[in-house]
Order: sequence, then structure tokens, then C-alpha cells
Amino acid sequence: MTLCHEFTSRDKLLPAATLGNYNKRNGCANAIKIANNFVDTYTEWLSERPGLGLYLNGPNGLGKTHLLTGMYKALMKRNVSAVFMTTYHMFQRFKEVGKVNDYEYEKRLLKVLYGCEVLLLDDVGGEVPYDSRAEKLLDVINVRSQKRPIIYSSNFTTGGLEQWMGNQGKRIADRILENAITITLDGESKRGLINDEHHDWLAGRVKGLE
Ligand SMILES: Nc1ncnc2c1ncn2[C@@H]1O[C@H](COP(=O)(O)OP(=O)(O)OP(=O)(O)O)[C@@H](O)[C@H]1O
Ligand SMILES: [Mg+2]
Repeated sequence: MTLCHEFTSRDKLLPAATLGNYNKRNGCANAIKIANNFVDTYTEWLSERPGLGLYLNGPNGLGKTHLLTGMYKALMKRNVSAVFMTTYHMFQRFKEVGKVNDYEYEKRLLKVLYGCEVLLLDDVGGEVPYDSRAEKLLDVINVRSQKRPIIYSSNFTTGGLEQWMGNQGKRIADRILENAITITLDGESKRGLINDEHHDWLAGRVKGLE
């Protein structure tokens, strides 16, 4: 649990987000039902489908990070060791370790990524590409496969991810599909709705806008 806290990307968690305050909007209703079911009946998921996670994908602003944050908080509350990391952050840490040859740190990093009960990887495909990232991700997926689930969020469908990851893309997409249920979110972006409110406010201030 201490390691989980240490490696969680705290500054990327949405402070106010919980599963309880996620609004069921059109296009996202299934995602919140499934997220709730996963955390509420985690031990059943684990015994019936060991290692089966979720791949939440869809456009920006639909609440994927909100859902992962909420799941992370709910799992930790239930004493399930969970780590929330942005994929960018995960690759950064691999890179840092590679540069300084800090084996102790690497050991702890791998212990967390391979061994925590639920790994929540936010924004797969949003990271800056570099050569060995695909192998690192494959290792994490392979070690956890059929044992410990990964919950992903991504802007990419698994097909899109396949292209993004270059020549290892097909293998990664296949492994993800084997170990996670894809859930596609659609509907109107929350950020878009907030922007609409800004426009309404502006229209109230500046008269005569066309
Ligand atoms: N259904 C929802 N109910 C309540 N708040 C929401 C909902 N969807 C999004 N939000 C809020 O809108 C903001 C943007 O959501 P979030 O960052 O989770 O989107 P995202 O899908 O991760 O976007 P991106 O693909 O850009 O990472 C956050 O503040 C989040 O709490
Ligand atoms: Mg996000």
C-alpha cells in the first residue's frame, strides 16, 4: 500500500472526482455502471475472470480520468492495492531508471507495476513516443495477464492504438483485447458543456453578439 501511494500520479488524479459524483450522461451510462460493478464486486470479477480489466476509450472530456480516479479511490477504500498512473508518467519513470541505473528504484517500480492488485493506466497513447516504450508496456501487460487486471483509459480504439504503437502495436492491441473489456464512451464532452456556459456568460456581458 505504501508503494501504491508512492507511485500513484497524485497530481493527475482529479481531486473532486468520485464514482458517486459521475453524472450518467448519454453515451457514458454503461461505463459508470460497469465501473461501479467492478469495484463493488471485485473479488467475484477476480475469481470468475482472473486478470480481466477494462479499456475505456473515447474522445476528450467524457470523464475517463474521472472514472479511473473514482475507481482508484473506491478500491483503496476497500483495501485493494491500486495504483493510478498516467502512461506518460510510467514511461518517464522507466526512462529515468534506465539513465541512472538505479536498480533499487527499478525493483520497486516493477514490484508496483507487476504486483499491485489493480493497475489504472490513464491516457494510453497520449504519451510521447520513444523506442522501447512498447516493450515496457508489453512486459507489464504480460506479467499481469490472467492474474491482475489493468484498467486503461485512452482516446484511441484498440485499432488506433495498434497504429500509434508502431511495429509492436498489433501485439499490444491483441494483449489488451485478451485481457480487458473495451468500453467506448461517446456523447458531449463535459469540457464542451463548460465552454457553452462560458459562451452564455459572455453573451450576457457583451450585448449584440452574432
Ligand atoms: N459524467 C461526468 N460527470 C461528472 N463530471 C464529469 C463527467 N464527465 C466529465 N466530467 C468532468 O469533466 C472534466 C473532464 O473529464 P476527464 O478529465 O475525466 O475527461 P477525459 O475523458 O479523461 O478527457 P481526456 O481524454 O482529455 O483525458 C473533469 O473535471 C471531470 O470531473
Ligand atoms: Mg483523461
